[in-house]
Order: sequence, then structure tokens, then C-alpha cells
Amino acid sequence: MSTELTIALSKGRVLADELGLLKKIGICPKESPASSRKLVFETNLESTRIIVLRGMDVATYVDHGIADVGMLGKDVLLEYSGTGYYEPLDLGLGRCSLMVAGLLDEGILPSRLRIATKFINTAKRYYAERGVQVDIIKLYGAMELAPVTGLAHRIVDIVETGNTLKANGLKPMELVAEISARLIVNSSAYKTKSHEVRRFVDSLVEVL
Ligand code: PRP
Repeated sequence: MSTELTIALSKGRVLADELGLLKKIGICPKESPASSRKLVFETNLESTRIIVLRGMDVATYVDHGIADVGMLGKDVLLEYSGTGYYEPLDLGLGRCSLMVAGLLDEGILPSRLRIATKFINTAKRYYAERGVQVDIIKLYGAMELAPVTGLAHRIVDIVETGNTLKANGLKPMELVAEISARLIVNSSAYKTKSHEVRRFVDSLVEVL
């Protein structure tokens, strides 16, 4: 039987919770994605398979219709610029905040700030919407180091417990967006596989 539903999951912290949700609706991979090097997983349902990717790639695979549905963080989705998908559900997993943060004692700042972040599109939009001119510096990790070393005045980053900010002498300042894992569905699959996709979305709604 051909695969009727391909589900893309994002690897990382939230993967176990995503798999937990799928289990609740009766979908279990035959092998554990947490311990296997495989990227495609058959499931207990002959017609359903799971692929495990980085969050941004989940968006790309669903946008292009290779995966029919995907689970990924809203932080990633805010950065993604494709339009070939719907976002029907907040899965409520991995809740955290995307925030502007800066040093506890910032001193006097210039009028044009340097902002370090890996969320450059979201940060640009945030400041543009407020009519504030800033210079964005792209980083790939350890954002907290940027204000400490003088690379940037502030950062836009994920805050969960706030411990990382605190440990580096920073404080949260402005909320950019509330983040959690979302379900996305390829727009064509909504029509061409409407039965499978709707059944999947409805089952998730029931357990959420
Ligand atoms: C995120 C974020 C912060 C940290 C915040 O990093 O970039 O560094 O979590 O969490 P806290 O508020 O609970 O301290 P993550 O561990 O996801 O790694 P990353 O640098 O790869 O994004």
C-alpha cells in the first residue's frame, strides 16, 4: 500500500513530546527515532510514515508537499517565508518566549542598537513594526555572549526558565512572541488527501 500520510517531526528537545502526542492518537514508529540514525520511520499504520528533520526543514518539506503534515516550533515558523501550508493547531508543546534581552546594567546606549540573534527575519519585523532602526547581527548560538562582549547591545532569543539570561548577567526586556510547537499542513494535501489529513487533525484536537 502506498504511503497516504507523511508526518514530519522536528528533532531536538520537543521530539519526545511530539512522539507522545502521536502515540496518543495511535501512531507509533516501528523503531525509536530518538535512538536510531534512520531518517524515515515506518509506523504501526501501514499507510503512515514519519520523517525526522530540523525544524526549518520540517517547514520546507511540508511547504513543498513532500510531507503532508509537520510539527515544529513557532520560532522556526516565524522565520520561514514559504506560504504553501496552513497552521491549524497549537500543540502546546515546548512553551517558551521569544524575547529581547539585554545586560542588567546597560549604561547609556546609542540611538541605533546592534541586535544579535539567530531569528533575523523575526527581529527585523519586530523592530520595523515599531519604526525602530537597528542593525541585526546573525549568530548561530550562545546569543547571551553578544551583549557581554560588546558585539551587540541586545539579543532576541528564546527564554524558557530565564536561567541562561540570569547566569550571564542579562534580563528579559520585551516579549517578541509566545512560542510553542505548531501543527502545519500542506495546503494541497488539505484538498487531495482531505480524508487522511482531516482524520489526523481531528484526532489531535481530541487529545489536546
Ligand atoms: C535556548 C536559548 C537559550 C536557552 C534559554 O538555547 O537560546 O540559550 O535555551 O533557556 P532558559 O531560559 O531555560 O535558560 P537551546 O538550549 O535551545 O540551544 P540553542 O543555542 O541551540 O538554541
